[in-house]
This record gives sequence, C-alpha cells and structure tokens, in this order.
Amino acid sequence: MNLDFTPEQLALQIQKAGQIIRELYEEKLDRHVFPGKTPGEIQEIFDESLPQDGIEIGKLLKKVREDVVGSATMNIGPHYYGYITGGGNQVAILAEMISAALNQNNLKWHSSPVSTELEKLVIKWVSEFIGYSDKAAGAILDGGSTANFNCLAVARKNMAPENLSVEGMYGMKPMTIYVSEEGHSSFDKAVDALGIGLNNLRKIPVDDQFRIRTDLLKAKIQDDRKAGLNPICVIGIAGTTNSGAVDNLGELVKIAKDENLWYHVDAAYGGPAAKLESVSHLFEGLGEADSVVVNPHKWLYVPFEAACILVKEPEKLRRTFSLIPDYLRSNEDEGGRTDLMEYQLPLTKSFKSLKVWMTLKAFGSTRLRETIQADIDHAQYLETLIETSGDFEMLAPVPLSITCFRYAPAGLDEKQLDELNQKLAHAIEQDGRIFLTATKIKGKTALRTCFINPRTTKKDVEWIPVVIRDLAGKLG
Ligand SMILES: Cc1ncc(COP(=O)(O)O)c(C=O)c1O
Repeated sequence: MNLDFTPEQLALQIQKAGQIIRELYEEKLDRHVFPGKTPGEIQEIFDESLPQDGIEIGKLLKKVREDVVGSATMNIGPHYYGYITGGGNQVAILAEMISAALNQNNLKWHSSPVSTELEKLVIKWVSEFIGYSDKAAGAILDGGSTANFNCLAVARKNMAPENLSVEGMYGMKPMTIYVSEEGHSSFDKAVDALGIGLNNLRKIPVDDQFRIRTDLLKAKIQDDRKAGLNPICVIGIAGTTNSGAVDNLGELVKIAKDENLWYHVDAAYGGPAAKLESVSHLFEGLGEADSVVVNPHKWLYVPFEAACILVKEPEKLRRTFSLIPDYLRSNEDEGGRTDLMEYQLPLTKSFKSLKVWMTLKAFGSTRLRETIQADIDHAQYLETLIETSGDFEMLAPVPLSITCFRYAPAGLDEKQLDELNQKLAHAIEQDGRIFLTATKIKGKTALRTCFINPRTTKKDVEWIPVVIRDLAGKLG
C-alpha cells in the first residue's frame, strides 16, 4: 500500500497548506486572541468515532482551516502576553515542514548525521549567544521542565556517591537542593520524580527584587549539614517565571564553590537576554554554572518545542545518560561520531536543531538581540504607562520583559482589589482583544504580561490599559 501523494499532488497540497498559513498571518493575527469556545463546543466540532475510511485531502485541509485554526488561541498574534509564550518565527515554519519531510530520528549518528551535527553546532551557538562555555555539551529537548529535570539528574548523578545507579538512593544521606521560592514548578516535579523528595527542595525566601536571599541560603546549607543531610545543588534563576527577576548569579557561584555544590542556572526564559548591553550586568556568573537550561522556544522566537540543556563538562552529562544496549550498537567509534542518545534521557526525538539553526542563520545574533531589546522596551513602556495612569499600580520591578501590575481605582481595600483583578483576568480572556494571565505577587493578585513577540508594537502596548479599563467599566 502506498500512502504517498503523487509529486504533483504533494506540491499542490503544500501550496494549499501554505495558503492556510498565509491567511493566518495576513488576516487572523488581529482576531480575538482567545477563540471563545468552551471545551464542550470544541469536543463537539471534532466528535466522531475512529474513521474507517479516510476523507479527501482537500476536505481535510478545509476542516483544518475552519475548525483547527478557528479553535486555536492566537499565541502568535501581537496581543498575546500570556505565560512565557514566544510568537515563533516564519523561517522556522519552513524548517518544521522540511524536518517533518526528512523524519530524522535523532538517536544515533548514523540514523541522523546532519541533525546530530547541527544539534552540536546549535548547542555551541546558543552557549555563545548567552555567554556560556564553548566547551559545553548539551541537547535540545522538548521544554524547560524536561530540561530542568535532565539537569537535576546530572547533578544528582555527579554529586551522589558512586553506587547511586546500581543501589538507588536507599540508605544514603538525604540529598538537598536549594532554589528561591520563585523557582519554577518543574523543580518540584523533578525532585519528586528523582526520588530526592519535595521536603529536600529548600525554597529560600527572596528580597524585595524577588532574588534569592543569599544570606538565608548560606545559613540553610549550614543547618542542613549540621543535621546530617547532603547538600548537592544550588539553583540560580536567570529570569523568574512570575516577574523576570534574575538572582545574584555571581554570588551563587561563590556559594556553590565554597560549599562544593553543583551550580545549575535556570535561564529557560531570561538566558537569551544575557549579553544585551542594557541587562548583561544582571547575568554575571552565568558562565560559571555547571549546567544551564535555556529555551529557544521562548526568547529566541523558535516555535515549540526546543529547550537546551548545556553542561560545562561533557563527560558529566554523558555518564548520566549513556547506556548502549545491543540493539543500539553501531559503528560508534568510527570517525568521531556522537550519538545524542548518550547525552539525554529520550532516545527517539525529532530534528529540533533545524529550526533553531535556521532561525539563528536567517536573523543572526545582532538582529535577534535587537528584537529582544525591543521586548524589554515594551515591558518598560507599559511600566511607565501604568505608573503614570492614576488607576493602575505596579506590583514588581521590571528587570526583563515581564510586567506585574493591577487595576487599582481609588477607594478599594485589598480584598476588593484582589476580587476585582481576578474578575478582570477572567473578563480579559473571554473578551479576547488581548490575552494575559493573573498571578500572585506577595499575596496580591496581579495581572501579568510577558513580551516575547516581535509582532507586538508600541501602539499595541498602549492598548493594554485601555482594554482593561474598558472591561473594568463593564464589570462595574
Ligand atoms: C524559569 C522557567 N523555567 C522553566 C520553565 C518551564 O519551561 P517549559 O514551559 O518549556 O517546560 C519555565 C516556563 O515558563 C520558566 O519560566
């Protein structure tokens, strides 16, 4: 049985799919960000039993155009400010199409020579882009959560006693890991899944800039040692999820060295800003980390999924994940081949490096840095608008490109402000003109915008308070 199109049909269908993409970028970017459908409504659109016979491709593409695109949140549009979701880029759309066509399986060198070599090159380039070691080894994984998990696995493997792999952690002194209370939830998941235990993830309080309190960190490490525990790793955050705070990375280097700890930096979001003249001082010390996570699918505008792990000493990464069963033996030793499966938890994975490589090649580091700076400028512009508004207030500083603020008309107490801003977050989603999310900053409900989208303009930024004020008026 042949499942392929004829070459002519293939070209025609690619053109038709291209037309859907063109419409998306030509007409739909400005449409309501949230599609405004309920789960039940979307289920109903697609509800059918497993098709026994396929449908004609033209009809299928029509369904994709109407129902899939019509039910999607417009993350790529200029008015999306939710979470830390990049707007992607169009060069990478081409990369994704070609990568799917090639269907490289990135497990062994000989199953994917070009994707292996491009991945190694991209790891070098991303390291250079953020000011990390040119000797680092790494891998491109699906997301920052998996990447943080992989890095903590490397830390555990290299800091625990030798017999960890064979004997497990039974009978060992409990290991402890340190991160600020603003650390991403992926660390909680990782310590749980790695058997370290949530109680052994020490959440250290932050200062008024939301950076880890290094005095409290040092004290906690001492207390833990006295209590017979085994501190193994300290985590610095280069751009917290909530407000973009960057820990004092240089001071953490010193603590990690003095205390003989693995030093991991979660730069999933902030990493690409590290060498910008305006903010590079915040990132001093990043280069000295033992491992770093940085997500090209956030602030390098690469579409999902692409998150890099970088480990300064390649052998430490390899000894964590290398395992070659008989069915995966090939000519490993021939001519400097690298099998990426030895450097990561997954075996099979897609040709992720193509879209990162093409993005870096097409735009170059200068233009990408200018674009990142423009995102920071947008966040700071919104901060100025908020501070001069009279009816909004900022709730956190803006070191990078996230703003946390609230609508705060005069005469409301804290409880009423919380309720109003929670209602506003819901109303904003349903209204669909802009998309942002709510969070808590020091217990207060904040509206939070993240700017990592080159399609957003200064005018779009000005619209944010206008829409919120309008909705607040409607809420009464
Ligand atoms: C600082 C930080 N680390 C890790 C992650 C997890 O990344 P991902 O969503 O790619 O799993 C995020 C996500 O926003 C993040 O902000």
